Amino acid sequence: MSTPQWPVAGEREYELIAQVLSGQMWGGFHPLVAQLERDFAAFQHCRFGISAFNGTITLEMALEALGIGPGDEVIVPAISFVSTATAVSRRGAIPVFVDIEFDTFNVDPQRIREAITPKTKAIIPVHFGGPMADMDSIIAIAAEFGLPLLEDAAHSHGSEWNGARAGSIGAVSSFSFQNGKVMTAGEGGMLLTNDAALATRLRALQNQGRKEGEGFFHHYTLGSNYRMTALQAAVLVAQLERLPAQNALRDRNARLIKESLADVPGLHFQVIPAAAAVHTNYLLLGWVDEDRDGFHQRLTAQGVPCTPFYPHTLQNNPLYLDRTNCRAMACPNAEGHIHDAFWLPHRALLGDEEESMRVASAIRAASAVPTATVHSNL
Ligand SMILES: Cc1ncc(COP(=O)(O)O)c(C=O)c1O
Repeated sequence: MSTPQWPVAGEREYELIAQVLSGQMWGGFHPLVAQLERDFAAFQHCRFGISAFNGTITLEMALEALGIGPGDEVIVPAISFVSTATAVSRRGAIPVFVDIEFDTFNVDPQRIREAITPKTKAIIPVHFGGPMADMDSIIAIAAEFGLPLLEDAAHSHGSEWNGARAGSIGAVSSFSFQNGKVMTAGEGGMLLTNDAALATRLRALQNQGRKEGEGFFHHYTLGSNYRMTALQAAVLVAQLERLPAQNALRDRNARLIKESLADVPGLHFQVIPAAAAVHTNYLLLGWVDEDRDGFHQRLTAQGVPCTPFYPHTLQNNPLYLDRTNCRAMACPNAEGHIHDAFWLPHRALLGDEEESMRVASAIRAASAVPTATVHSNL
């Protein structure tokens, strides 16, 4: 038995790719692209979907459409993939790094509040690993200060907060379909919003400043070409059809694994608030009280994929280390998890019950910290 591979394609991907290749339109104007935008928006409880070629450019587009520019501050969690921060920097704006909650790994709403200044122009919560951030508190703070929320939903295709799907709460949200994500075309991105005016701005940005229904060579605003290809959309339409079953399978297996490991001392899993119970399980995320690097080595030696978390918080990346282009609040929880956290990729949750029990036994064995060898001078 071995950990399932990812990504996976079935007959449906081949069928839809063949459909594209047999026609004369392989680019972003193929009807499958519009179908994906409609279907994915509906799946996430949103009105409008605007696709793009990856989930980094979508963050940059969202910030541009929100009017973020030089000198503006945007609040981001200290733990995320680098794009969450660089999208802000690429607008000439200043990422302001705030701490996460120790147990959920998601941004701490109280730390957001403390970081707000007159320069703050937006907040980017990330639904880290799949479970959504505390959207009740974050939306309340955003409303109090009149700030737009850009949900970085790159990990949360199908995740919910009290029944509302990721992307449907903030002003705009950004999804990634990069190779490791729970639905993928190798690369790809999507912006979702319920705001018709914002959707129009995003579409114009994505499609050379055109207006829907107007001439191909009429450009009304400064846009670019961020369009997804029909080949990407063909794969993603098929991936979306399979996603609910895969999300359910991952959820069952994650529960089995965590329940069977509840008695292991010093091993902890990401705490999932009741409101966020429905989620992708994009990462099986946790931390150990002792010897994280040894845990990682012992686990991977048993053939179970594991990453020893990020090597540093976002603000401690070389890019931001001298603090000339960012602002960093105190982030003790994020700093702590750099040394004790780990994750398993979601493919480790796509096997059958037997495979899940194998993963659980491997985690149990890896959690046992070897007692130090006693050296004698004799
Ligand atoms: C939280 C988060 N935001 C943004 C991105 C960027 O997406 P992409 O790789 O599609 O550019 C990723 C990962 O890839 C991510 O994990």
